[in-house]
Amino acid sequence: MKITVVGSGYVGLVTGACFSELGNDLICIDIDESKIRKLNDGIIPIYEPGLEELVKKNRKEGRLTFTTDLKKSIKDSEIVFICVGTPPKDNGEADLSHVESVARTIAEVMDSYKLIVEKSTVPVETGNKVAKSIRAYNTEKVDFDVVSNPEFLREGSAVNDFMHPDRIVVGCESEKARKIMENLYAPLNAPIIFTDIKSAEIIKHASNSFLATKISFINAIANICELAGADVENVAEGMGFDKRIGRSFLNAGIGYGGFCFPKDAEAFIRISEKLGYDFRLLKAAQEINQSQRKHFVRKIEKALWVVKGKTIGILGLAFKPNTDDMRYAPSIDIIKELQKEGAEIKVYDPVAHERSKEFLKDIKYCANPYEVAENSDALVIITEWSEFKELDLRKIKSLMRNPLIIDGRNIYSPKKLKKEGFMYISIGRMDVI
Ligand code: UDX
Repeated sequence: MKITVVGSGYVGLVTGACFSELGNDLICIDIDESKIRKLNDGIIPIYEPGLEELVKKNRKEGRLTFTTDLKKSIKDSEIVFICVGTPPKDNGEADLSHVESVARTIAEVMDSYKLIVEKSTVPVETGNKVAKSIRAYNTEKVDFDVVSNPEFLREGSAVNDFMHPDRIVVGCESEKARKIMENLYAPLNAPIIFTDIKSAEIIKHASNSFLATKISFINAIANICELAGADVENVAEGMGFDKRIGRSFLNAGIGYGGFCFPKDAEAFIRISEKLGYDFRLLKAAQEINQSQRKHFVRKIEKALWVVKGKTIGILGLAFKPNTDDMRYAPSIDIIKELQKEGAEIKVYDPVAHERSKEFLKDIKYCANPYEVAENSDALVIITEWSEFKELDLRKIKSLMRNPLIIDGRNIYSPKKLKKEGFMYISIGRMDVI
């Protein structure tokens, strides 16, 4: 099938590359000329495992092209995916101006049937508004359908998530659209949930909000464990064996970051408010998430007694492993707070140094974790990259000024660190001091 993907960010690029891998002809669009130039030179602007290989292969085989020419691409395609950004406005609502502008362009140029697929995360009722706008601006009254097909891709495993989804959600209101979507996704052999457009839009909000709430729930439990002298890892394991609960997304830590959960939860709170519902549960989840970062800084302060003049080594900057994404990363708030108190900051992240420069100033970038540890008064783990789980702890200890590890992701066992002679402070577990 001939497909145009409008917006070559995380979602658009992965969607375009994966659909081309499935044998379709893909045109990926972006208004950013330099991004398109880079993509045409084979340079992928984001770090996403497996994506570069997929893009290279499908470009070479002629199934994947990149251009800024939106109008021509729409004319040439039967399916148009809208994957443009919906950044938050000051009040937390999603800014839909890019979605609206794409809808108007489609209306202006379309001269044959088009299936317009909304993939960006948008408020409920956007699908209907897109359809209304196309109907209004298309003077030739060409036949078209709009469907909602939310993405559930996790950064760092987006290609794999696309190719092996738990489910595919399609909100559509015509038999023709349903058939096209069914054919398009047939190679993935995954369950497809067909529903109305509004329900599909709410499935996306509800899924992300539920996962965010699950994380805040376990972080609240972690705080209770700290007060009671229990161990949150044991609690999560005991809860997780219950099939109704499940162990995933019960990892206590410094809370969720990234461009999806914080922004989508905020947007869903606004959407609910507009509809007349005060979503107190989700508001609490967001509050707990923010306070978890502050709680972590308090732990560092307590362990160091005086922060001013101390050298703090940070392991991990990205909001989670296997990505260089720094948006809403907990590391930003935590490092800024420590700098405010007069700490010297040294950092190492396997891939996020470049992108972190937009958010953080006056930090010393190191080439590896051992350089970070050298002469540090504390080593703080912020992102659970797997290489941090295999450090030579004896070497780390010999390099540090003070053998103190404060672990925001519970990557070590307190018993082991005690044996190695560290002071070890983690989340929801007994301190080793
Ligand atoms: C998320 C959703 O998982 C995905 O379906 C949606 O389409 C986009 O948003 P992503 O933001 O890439 O994906 O990452 P995810 O792996 O879900 O983690 C989000 C945040 O939650 C990270 O900051 C992570 O560290 C944190 N997290 C996750 C926890 O703190 N504890 C957990 O148990 C799980």
